[in-house]
Amino acid sequence: MAKIINVVGARPNFMKIAAIIREMEKIPRMDWLLVHTGQHYDVEMSDAFFRELTIPKPDINLEVGSGTHARQTGQIMAAFEEVCLKEKPDLVLVVGDVNSTLACALVASKLHIPVAHVEAGLRSFDRKMPEEINRVVTDILSNFLFTTCREADENLLREGVDPKKIFLVGDVMIDTLYANLSRIRAMHIWRRMGFKKREYAVLTLHRPSNVEEKPVLGEIVTALEEVSRHLPIVFPIHPRTSAAVRRFGFQGSFKFIDGDDPGPLRYSDGGSSRGPGIWCCHPLGYLEFLNLVLHSRFVMTDSGGIQEETTVLDIPCLTLRETTERPVTISQGTNTLLGHDTRRIVAEVKKIMGGEGKHCKRPPLWDGKAAERIVAILAKEFNISH
Ligand code: UD1
Repeated sequence: MAKIINVVGARPNFMKIAAIIREMEKIPRMDWLLVHTGQHYDVEMSDAFFRELTIPKPDINLEVGSGTHARQTGQIMAAFEEVCLKEKPDLVLVVGDVNSTLACALVASKLHIPVAHVEAGLRSFDRKMPEEINRVVTDILSNFLFTTCREADENLLREGVDPKKIFLVGDVMIDTLYANLSRIRAMHIWRRMGFKKREYAVLTLHRPSNVEEKPVLGEIVTALEEVSRHLPIVFPIHPRTSAAVRRFGFQGSFKFIDGDDPGPLRYSDGGSSRGPGIWCCHPLGYLEFLNLVLHSRFVMTDSGGIQEETTVLDIPCLTLRETTERPVTISQGTNTLLGHDTRRIVAEVKKIMGGEGKHCKRPPLWDGKAAERIVAILAKEFNISH
């Protein structure tokens, strides 16, 4: 028997843990608990994903909520330490690069509990991104480093990580994407929202570096306004960005699918068709969002995971950042790195509209079986099998 604590905290963690838990459930002697730190807590940022992806209800919710980095990380650490002392797990498994990932890895490591990090080795080489600090520190502390691509292995080896700790397994986020592809295909959210297939772009934006400084957000908004004159943009808006748009007085540049404000989403009946504009709506669930992406002309984003999902779905992705920790989505996928410069963004959109969007060669091991590989490695380590 081996006891594992699986940790989640924020939206991009949920689709990753869904794939891992599905595999762990196949091994009765793998005894696992799910701990939610509560970093994300809104229904649409958290519960909706549990429901759609049938992730079991967390055994423990630390309910830390939002805060500054130090406060949020510290509160997670204090609460998670108590959980570890009580539960005495044999392993703590963390995913991704959010504050919850780092906080729980740090606690486990100080209690001499081995740590497994899923999605290890990604590097943007930009320490101004809080996620980069989370990645570097989590990797230093981890005993099992599960990677998505060869580039990640190389980063870890360069940093002196023992090769015996590194396991190239593929991408658990893509496992969940493949497992749900038929459900994603079966939806018609784009039509219910009033858009036409391939005649809209999707936007997500939430990085502090893009939304917390007025001149930067202003430059992006100018580019989006120009793009949206040619093609409507649909923008499921993150709470951080929603607050910034109001704070800086940019509301006038956006339209709301539900009227003046992103209240509860009431779709059009599909009869009407949205004209030019940047159309905001609430953060969407997993299936609805990917359905929207699947039928879009292209995606603009500053998210990490969406760079991978668009690559697998073969939809051109314009990443509004200067760096990416996922270079494989550029070298093999549909991703182009653009920063926030208005002219670069508009020029690249024109290329896509002219039929020059990138196409994808799926990276090796992004085949829907990454979680199976991870769980097999852990089962072997703890000497437990089916
Ligand atoms: C976090 C992650 C980021 C990830 C993103 C996905 C870190 C450092 N950042 O950023 O890597 O890409 O999640 O969304 O861990 N808020 C709500 N409701 C919620 C959660 C947050 O309203 O359920 C608001 C709060 O005002 C909060 C702000 O969003 O202060 C930011 O939340 P936080 O979790 O600190 O960072 P994210 O920007 O979501």
